[in-house]
Amino acid sequence: MTRHFLNLSDAGGDAIAAMLADAIDRKAARRGQPKGKTDADAPLAGHTLAMIFEKNSTRTRVSFDMAIRQLGGTSLILDGATSQLGRGETIADTARVLSRMCDMIMIRTDDHAKIEEMAHHATVPVINGLTDMSHPCQIVADLLTVVEHGLALPGSQWAWLGDGNNVLHSIIEAAGLLKFGVRIAVPEGYEPDSAFAGRAQAAGAAITLTRDPVAAVAGADVVVTDTWISMGQAHADEKLKAMMPYQVTSALMAHAKPGARFLHCLPAHRGEEVVPEVIDGPQSLIWDEAENRIHAQKSVLLWAADRLG
Ligand code: CP
Ligand code: NVA
Repeated sequence: MTRHFLNLSDAGGDAIAAMLADAIDRKAARRGQPKGKTDADAPLAGHTLAMIFEKNSTRTRVSFDMAIRQLGGTSLILDGATSQLGRGETIADTARVLSRMCDMIMIRTDDHAKIEEMAHHATVPVINGLTDMSHPCQIVADLLTVVEHGLALPGSQWAWLGDGNNVLHSIIEAAGLLKFGVRIAVPEGYEPDSAFAGRAQAAGAAITLTRDPVAAVAGADVVVTDTWISMGQAHADEKLKAMMPYQVTSALMAHAKPGARFLHCLPAHRGEEVVPEVIDGPQSLIWDEAENRIHAQKSVLLWAADRLG
């Protein structure tokens, strides 16, 4: 069976735990070495990762490129504007061709159905580098970051503030797989897709929705937010106004557990979803979180290549 990674549930809780453990070990083993140096065991030597971007990216692009290099392989990048995908060649045909030429495909796109279509026709692993629905690779890095900073995931309490978006969907999915709680505070009309919460709740995770940001953050171990306007969404003053009460401020953080960690996948809009004192303050783990995209993506690539879990 080809191992596609479209959502965290494709791997499951045990494999994600294995990814986190492997990422911690590999990160420790190469500490202090040049970032482009190959890991001693070069587990994916000779492998080529094709990366397709139909949306902008800094972290996902660079982290996957560095990740495959560190594993001993190489990458190449296609974008909508310069590949035949942009001129209407089908996803199915693109998947068939790339499967003959490359060993793995990572794609960032809009409609999640496109990545499902790609996985259906690809004979090599397809990895979700973000869709409008989910961002599973980001959440592997987020989990890695809080675990590194001493959090035991099972039973921990997470708070999400702002927009019910793709990043939140993957956090909810992780909560179901790894058994932690998520309290979600979003304005009316910006709720996450209830199917994610339904599945996580069925798996035993406590997922609650509130309009009250203080209630969401009270006693939380981890506080997370993201941009109020995701890629592909129109800038809307009405939305920004509705989001304002959900801004992460120092006063709001004071309701979380002492020492609670703040996460943001970046890019950030200081003064919108979070104030500078929080995102640039002592509780913020954003730079570890960004660096951990490399270490987490290495684990995702190894899992997809059937070398892990
Ligand atoms: N967090 C994240 O996915 O960043 P990029 O959009 O820069 O890839
Ligand atoms: N929710 C954001 C995440 C960016 C990494 C977006 O989709 O634009």
